[in-house]
Amino acid sequence: MSVLSKSEARALYDRIASRYDLMLVQFKLLGLERHRRRLIRQLDLRCGDTVVDLCCGTGVNFEYLQNAVGSKGRIIGVDLSSAMLEQAQAKIYEAGWKNIEVICADVEKWPLPERTDVVLSTFGLEMVPGYADVIKQISSSLEPGARFGLMGLKKPDRWPDWLVRAAIWLSSPFGVSREYEDFQPWKAARRYLRVRNYRTMLMGAAYSCVAVKNH
Ligand SMILES: C[S@@+](CC[C@H](N)C(=O)[O-])C[C@H]1O[C@@H](n2cnc3c(N)ncnc32)[C@H](O)[C@@H]1O
Repeated sequence: MSVLSKSEARALYDRIASRYDLMLVQFKLLGLERHRRRLIRQLDLRCGDTVVDLCCGTGVNFEYLQNAVGSKGRIIGVDLSSAMLEQAQAKIYEAGWKNIEVICADVEKWPLPERTDVVLSTFGLEMVPGYADVIKQISSSLEPGARFGLMGLKKPDRWPDWLVRAAIWLSSPFGVSREYEDFQPWKAARRYLRVRNYRTMLMGAAYSCVAVKNH
């Protein structure tokens, strides 16, 4: 397997959209939801804030974001796959959220709205070839004090190779392959923003990072 082209990534996620949330169960059993909630807490969202969720997929972060920004806040989810966004839209409809919009777009080409308080991307930018430019663009668009949160998979430093291969095999339905090992968005966050919190999880196979636009 190699790095997916945009159309391959779209086709893959269109195909798995209806079972995506179910596929996350293996990660949930490893405590993923706790890490998501903690990351969102660390973003210091306030009632009424505008938050952008890049590569939002089926909207698994929406409930946590909604609890943080309240009905006066604004949540914008962006994703390449219209089928993933249909699932997100169903969650929005079922919950009756009026302040969440989803946009079908490539995050490499989508301009951040003015006055965005927080940008978040979970398990998304690791599969975007131009992630460093996306983060550079985010950094230049955000106002001082705005926050940027990341969570994703990374190559564990101390695992034996057979275990790394087994983990990649388990994650391959999501498009994960060895070719993504050099995709390291948290390093781009360090380059363009001030990282105030970085931690690894799942024994080094995942990370979360909170960065701030400097004053
Ligand atoms: C592993 S899913 C993550 C979904 C969700 N953020 C989560 O935490 O579960 C990766 C998502 O990134 C989206 N994606 C991949 N490349 C993209 C791009 N260039 N622009 C927008 N979305 C993209 C895919 O369509 C997919 O929904």
